[in-house]
Amino acid sequence: MSTFTQHEIEVLEGKRFKFGKNWLSFIKTLNVERINNAENSLKEFLKCESLNNKTFIDIGSGSGMFSLAAKNLGANVFSFDYDGSSVESTQILKEKYYQTDENWKVTQGSVLDKDFLNSLGTYDIVYSWGVLHHTSAMWEAIGNVIPLAKPDGEIFIALYNDQGPTSKKWLKVKQIYNKGFWGKLFISSIFITYFLANFIFYSLKQGKSPFKQWKAYKLQRGMSVYHDWHDWLGGLPFEVASNEKVVDFFNERGFYLKKLRTNNGLGCNQYVFKKL
Ligand SMILES: C[S@@+](CC[C@H](N)C(=O)[O-])C[C@H]1O[C@@H](n2cnc3c(N)ncnc32)[C@H](O)[C@@H]1O
Repeated sequence: MSTFTQHEIEVLEGKRFKFGKNWLSFIKTLNVERINNAENSLKEFLKCESLNNKTFIDIGSGSGMFSLAAKNLGANVFSFDYDGSSVESTQILKEKYYQTDENWKVTQGSVLDKDFLNSLGTYDIVYSWGVLHHTSAMWEAIGNVIPLAKPDGEIFIALYNDQGPTSKKWLKVKQIYNKGFWGKLFISSIFITYFLANFIFYSLKQGKSPFKQWKAYKLQRGMSVYHDWHDWLGGLPFEVASNEKVVDFFNERGFYLKKLRTNNGLGCNQYVFKKL
C-alpha cells in the first residue's frame, strides 16, 4: 500500500513545485518591515485601515505572512493550504505571534475539495493570492471560492497574467525545473543569472543602486526577490487568465470589480470583487 500523499505523488511525478519548502525558507527572512508591507497591501486593496470584527479566509496561505497581516489588522483568520510545508510555515507564524489565540485557525486542505469547503462557512474577506492558478483546475478553483464570501463579502484574488505564447514557453521552463535536481539546477543557473543581470541593468539604467532596489523589493507585499524568482521558475501547476475572462466570470456570478491592478508582463493581475 502506498504511503505517499497525493501531494507527494504530484511532486515526485514532476507535476508540482514544493511551494511550502520555499515558504519555510522565506519565513527565516521575516521581519517587522515585511509584515508591515503585507498589512499595507491588504489595507490598500481592501480600502480599509483595519479588519476589526471581520472574518478572513486565506486560501493557499503559503508562508502565512498574509494571515498574520490580517490578524494584526484585527481579523479572525482561517488559513489553509494544500502543501503540508506551507501549513507548517503558517503554523510557525501563528505559534510565534498568536500562540494561544483561538481566532486564528490553520489547517491542511484543498480549494478543489468541495466537501472540505462546504464545512468552512462564509467570510467577510476571501483572500487567495497567487494560488488558484497553481491548482491544476484554475476555473473550477475560482468557482469554488465564490460561495465562501458572505452576501456583502469581498473576494481578493491574484492570477497569472495571460501572455499568450510567452506563457506557454514559461510552462515548459517550469516543467523542466520540476524534473528533479538536474532540472532545477539547469533552469536556475540560466534564469537566475538572467534575472540578476536584468535586475542590475534596469536598476543602473534608472540611476538606482541594485542593492537598494533589492532591499526595496519587499515594499511590494513584503516579499523577497530570491524566493519569488524560485516560486516563479518552479511554480507548477501553472495556468494563466486574461482580465477579460476573469471579470466576465465574476460578472456572470453577480459580482462587480471593485479594484484591479494589472500586470502587462510576467506576474499576477490582482482583483477585488464584491457582490452586486
Ligand atoms: C505562490 S504560493 C502563494 C502563497 C500566498 N497566498 C502568498 O500570497 O504569498 C501558492 C500557494 O498555493 C498553494 N496551493 C496550491 N494548490 C492548492 C490547493 N488546491 N488548495 C490550497 N492551496 C493550494 C500552494 O501550496 C502554495 O502554498
